[in-house]
Amino acid sequence: MIDSPAKEIFAKDYRAPDFHIEKTELRFELAGDATRVTSRLTIARSATGEKRPLVLNGQDQSLVQVSVDDVILGSDAYSVDDDFLTIHQVTDAFVLECVTDIEPEKNTSLEGLYRSNGMYCTQCEAEGFRKITYYLDRPDVLSEFVTHIWASEGQFPVMLSNGNCTRDVVEDGVRKVTWHDPFKKPCYLFALVAGDLESVDDSFVTESGREVALQIFVESKDLDKCDHAMQSLKNAMRWDEQVYGREYDLDIYMVVAVDDFNMGAMENKGLNIFNTSCVLAHPKTTTDLGFQRVEAVVAHEYFHNWSGNRVTCRDWFQLSLKEGFTVYRDAEFSADMNSRTVKRVEDASLLRTVQFAEDAGPMAHPVRPDSFIEISNFYTVTIYEKGAEVVRMMANLLGESLFRKATDLYFERFDGQAVTCEDFVRCMEEVSGRDLTQFRHWYSQAGTPALRVAGQYDAESARYTLSVEQTTPPTPGQDEKPAFHIPFSVALVGQDGPLSCVLQQSGQEASEFVLDITESKQTFEFEGVPEAPIPSLLRGFSAPVNMSFDYSDTELAQLIRADDDGFARWDAVQTLAMRALADGSGDQSGLLEEAFRSLLKSAENGGADMAMLAMLLTLPNEMYISDVLLDLDPVEIHKRRKGLKALLGSRLREQWLACYRKFHSTGDDIDGSAMAARSLKNIALEYLMSADSSSAQVLAREQFEKSLTMTDVSAALRVLENLADDRNLAERVLADFYQQWKGESLVVNAWLAAQATSARDGVLDRVKGLMDHEAFDITNPNKVRSLIGAFCNQNPSQFHASDGSGYAFLADRVIELDKLNPQIASRLLTPLTRWKKRDQSRQELMKAELGRIKAEDLSSDVYEIVAKSLAVA
Ligand code: TRP
Ligand code: ZN
Repeated sequence: MIDSPAKEIFAKDYRAPDFHIEKTELRFELAGDATRVTSRLTIARSATGEKRPLVLNGQDQSLVQVSVDDVILGSDAYSVDDDFLTIHQVTDAFVLECVTDIEPEKNTSLEGLYRSNGMYCTQCEAEGFRKITYYLDRPDVLSEFVTHIWASEGQFPVMLSNGNCTRDVVEDGVRKVTWHDPFKKPCYLFALVAGDLESVDDSFVTESGREVALQIFVESKDLDKCDHAMQSLKNAMRWDEQVYGREYDLDIYMVVAVDDFNMGAMENKGLNIFNTSCVLAHPKTTTDLGFQRVEAVVAHEYFHNWSGNRVTCRDWFQLSLKEGFTVYRDAEFSADMNSRTVKRVEDASLLRTVQFAEDAGPMAHPVRPDSFIEISNFYTVTIYEKGAEVVRMMANLLGESLFRKATDLYFERFDGQAVTCEDFVRCMEEVSGRDLTQFRHWYSQAGTPALRVAGQYDAESARYTLSVEQTTPPTPGQDEKPAFHIPFSVALVGQDGPLSCVLQQSGQEASEFVLDITESKQTFEFEGVPEAPIPSLLRGFSAPVNMSFDYSDTELAQLIRADDDGFARWDAVQTLAMRALADGSGDQSGLLEEAFRSLLKSAENGGADMAMLAMLLTLPNEMYISDVLLDLDPVEIHKRRKGLKALLGSRLREQWLACYRKFHSTGDDIDGSAMAARSLKNIALEYLMSADSSSAQVLAREQFEKSLTMTDVSAALRVLENLADDRNLAERVLADFYQQWKGESLVVNAWLAAQATSARDGVLDRVKGLMDHEAFDITNPNKVRSLIGAFCNQNPSQFHASDGSGYAFLADRVIELDKLNPQIASRLLTPLTRWKKRDQSRQELMKAELGRIKAEDLSSDVYEIVAKSLAVA
């Protein structure tokens, strides 16, 4: 427990609501400096014993009038403070009317109703609705919403809310638009938009033959950047019908793009609101990674219509019920649309770097947390990505058809309800007959299990023995960690690939096995193993664990050559590379070079999964290296990685050059093979630049000037910035880039990030300078992430400068931002919380900055992170 002025909320204290709100009718009068909100709530007391008063959540608004059943209440009938409106005595059924004034133009928190580029928009999840009007702001209160939006005629061409538009009239110069959402929903799914927007329109015919209107609303200058989101939406709608049997339910599905947004996007019923960065895409302005992100986020929000909206969460401790499941769904969708192996490796890599670090830090929490101070702090990689892994493990344990049966049961049984992770797991159990008692630890226990694996081959009896030990380190508040149920996918790889053999425990004959690890120590015997094998372990990243096996370098090389599992091969390359980095003398055995040589050869021959090849040829990033090689200074890590790139670049110069020439084109296709070709050739360019910048910069420069895609232009910009000997050239290129793109805010973000993550010296001063540039705006989260976030998270050698200047800079920004946007301030803080990984002197510097922040008058968001970071021993 945390000693705190802010209130900590515990899952065990959950109590069903005393009242429910059958109907919610809202009227918004949008006007210059204040917005009047009138709410009429049809409320009934729940069938619980005690007759408690009605306590509504509400913040940052001024109460004008309250009435019950149309009788205005006197001030002694209610009380109001910073967080609640309490009506002392109410009957069992009544209509409550509240009139309040709010100030969207002054709302910089981007929570509740706010203005972005002149338009009005909302963000209510998790607890933002209470900034709009007094309400039971909790996900287990589901209500039918009718929303009236009033504004002077001609002011806003577009006025939207959830559901269907039932009225649009002008009376006395006031335009009055009414929306009705027939599906009951919690208020966190409410949305309102009013602005000068235009739409790209399309339609979709559902499996059962209903036509759904699809609309993407953007500023008129962005109308040419909506095709990809629209196509992704239609693909997602079809996919959810085919894979989960889920159809869309309303007659209209709207997506709105806004510039100022705290996260990626929000699944409001029938009216998704998106960060422009997750919806706009055009080959000229958007990288291939950006295209894939748009596809994934559009699908993610769409999938929430069932996993989140139709079936929602009982309380915020169940957040992963909707987020983990929906991330699993969008990951499978992306895998079906693109390269399955690449998607899996990307996700495993994200988990292993970012989530494992979270699980080892002061904010470590289970997929279903037990307590929080500020729920916004729990929209984490643990809830989302580890939560998705937990769903994936169950899907794999059950197999495709039983998992589908289980999700059918879940959606059917709980449609229109607010439920728990436990409800989800029980559907899995019921349908499969499997006992998931031990498996449930994945929901309740934080921390990353470590699996230590060893193997032994006995040639005479043709037996291979695999022994597995699991331990999980303690996390704040959880010292004891009973063993997890870990599905551990393995194969035994011979000279030509996985060998067929028999698992003694089950008698099963196969070339791949999923072992159920359930104890702290277990041994498995394989029989009929014809040759000495190399074990291929944790195939497909079958569980979110830290696996170690003492491979020799030549064994790793054999896995890279002969294994057929993409994750295991990639992991083998990463391990070889980590060894080359750890011993500091480069690739002594030459095995990494040899592996790269044959990978490049297969690229030349074509046929292989080119996108996967590009991943295999990418060295571990500095963040991951510094999480594994704890003793190494960030500056030293940077130097060694650079050295290894130069080495591999020069030893394989011909091959890289051939690869570059083969895959370079100036076309702007965005299909999978064109994207794969670009990623491969841009990696080649990076190695070539690392080896010899004076000759390679000619290529880079030409690519910068002639390419039609942002992928190629920005890749060239980055290598020139990071690696060109000719500093003037880098400066010129940066200036040209800005001149050309200063009108495209999202491209400018890439320009900011390229400078913030630069490998050159003196980046902190540049970042400080850029904060005064016309391109920067501290109230815009995308700008903050691109400049400040990128520097602190993706430039470890400079952020961790030994004089502590990076830490002080971050602390100053957090203090500054906390006054404007606590959610963003709190997220920005993450790198300072990881002080335990650093050497003694950096630890002191980091803790001092945390202490300096803690002395301020803080939001609960920042307070929680700072307090928890300083509380760990
Ligand atoms: N539910 C959103 C999603 O995952 C997340 C989200 C969007 C969010 N905006 C937010 C969470 C603001 C907290 C605060 O798709
Ligand atoms: Zn989500």
